[in-house]
Amino acid sequence: MDTHLIEFAGLLVRWLHVIAGIAWIGSSFYFIWLDNSLEPPPPGSDAAKKGVFGELWAVHGGGFYNPQKYAVAPATLPERLHWFKWEAYTTWLSGTALLVLVYWLRAQALMIDPNVMPLAPWQAVAIGAASMVGSWAIYDLLCKSPLGKRDGLLGLVIFVLLSLLAWGLSRTLGGRAAFIHVGAAIGSIMAGNVYYVIIPGQKRMVAAMRAGQTPDPMDGKRGKQRSVHNNYFTLPVLFIMVSNHYAYTYAHPHNWAVLVLIAAAGVSIRHFFNRKHKGVHAWQYPALGAVLLGITAWWTAPRIQPLPPVQGEVTFNRVRAIVGQRCVQCHSPQPTFPGITAPQAGVLLHTPDGIVQSAQRMYQQVVVTRIMPLGNVTNITDEERAVIAAWVKSGAQMTP
Ligand code: HEC
Repeated sequence: MDTHLIEFAGLLVRWLHVIAGIAWIGSSFYFIWLDNSLEPPPPGSDAAKKGVFGELWAVHGGGFYNPQKYAVAPATLPERLHWFKWEAYTTWLSGTALLVLVYWLRAQALMIDPNVMPLAPWQAVAIGAASMVGSWAIYDLLCKSPLGKRDGLLGLVIFVLLSLLAWGLSRTLGGRAAFIHVGAAIGSIMAGNVYYVIIPGQKRMVAAMRAGQTPDPMDGKRGKQRSVHNNYFTLPVLFIMVSNHYAYTYAHPHNWAVLVLIAAAGVSIRHFFNRKHKGVHAWQYPALGAVLLGITAWWTAPRIQPLPPVQGEVTFNRVRAIVGQRCVQCHSPQPTFPGITAPQAGVLLHTPDGIVQSAQRMYQQVVVTRIMPLGNVTNITDEERAVIAAWVKSGAQMTP
C-alpha cells in the first residue's frame, strides 16, 4: 500500500485513540470524584426515603446538578439508563490498532534491540501479544482469588507483578517497545475490567431489577473494585503513552526501574486526589510522589560515556560518510531499513544540509543518550561517535 496512506491511517487512529482516551479517563476521574464526594442525605428527607445513599450538589456550565447514588439500586428503574462503555472499548481498539501499525508491523526497527535480545520479528510480536493477554488473565485470577478481598494487599501484589512485567519486557524488547507494551498490558486490564466484569455485572443487576428481583450486591462491589483499580492505573498508563518522547527514560540501562518509579509516583499522586475528594488532605502522598520523581530526574540525567580519541582530521566528509553508512537507512525520504516507511522523526540525513541542520539533535542522540542508531542495528563504532561529537563541538561546519 502507498506508504503515505499507512502514515495517514496512523494519524487518524492516533487521533481517535487520544480522543477516546480523554473521554474514558475523564469519566473515570469524574465518577471516582463523584463517589468520593457524596454525602448522605439528611434523615427523613425525600432522598433518604427513596433509598439514596449519598448525593451532592455541583454547578457547571451555568447550571446546577444534583446527582444521587443509590445503595444498591432504586426501587424502580427508569426507562433510559446511560451506560459508559464505548469510551473504554474505543480506546482499547484504537490503541491496539496503533500498536499494530506503529510497532508490530515495524518490529524489526521498533521492537527489537539486538543488544537486548536478538529476536525474530514474529517472536517480538508474540511476546508483546502474550504480555497483554497474560497480564489480563493473571490479574483477573488474582481479583477472583481470596486475595481479592484484601484491597491493599491486592493492590501491592498487582504493582509488584506489573513491575516484574516491566523488568521482563525490558530484558527482551527494545526500551521503547518494552514501555509501550507495559502500557498495552495495563490498558488491556483496564478494558478487560469494563468488558468482562463491570458491564456484565451491571447488565445482571438491571436484568434482575427488570424481573422484579433484588440485584446481587456483589456485582456492585466487584464492579466498584475494578473501577477503582482502573482509576489508579490512569496516571502510570498516561506516562507510558507519552514516554516515547523521553528517550532518557526508556533507553536508561535500568529503564524498567525508571518506569516503576514514575508509575509509583503516579499512583501516589492519584491516591492523594482520591483522599482529598473525601475531605482528607494526606500530603504525604504527593510528597512521596515528588521525592520519587526527584530521584528519577537525578538518576536519568545523561552521563556522557567517555569516547576514544579521534585519529586524524575531523572533516565534514568523514561525518557524511559515517551518517551515510549508519543513519540514512532510516533517515532519508525513501528509507531502506525493513519496516521503516518514512524518515523517522522527520529527521533527514541524506543531504549535507540535512546533516548540518540536525547536528545538535544528532549529538544528543548519538553521543549523549546513544539511542541512535536505534538499537545500534547499523553497528556504529565508538570512534565514529567520537568523530560526530568532535565535529559538532567544532561548530558543525559544512567545509569538507
Ligand atoms: C533502524 C532505524 C534507525 C537508524 C539506523 C537511525 N535512526 Fe534515528 N531515528 C529512528 C527512529 C525510529 C526515530 C524516532 C524515535 C522517536 O520518535 O523517539 C529516530 C529519531 C532520530 C532523531 C530525532 C530524535 C529527537 O527526538 O530529536 C535523530 C536526531 C536521529 N534519529 C538521528 C540519527 C542518527 C544520527 C543516526 C545514525 C548515527 C540514526 N538516527 C540512525 C530510527 C533510526
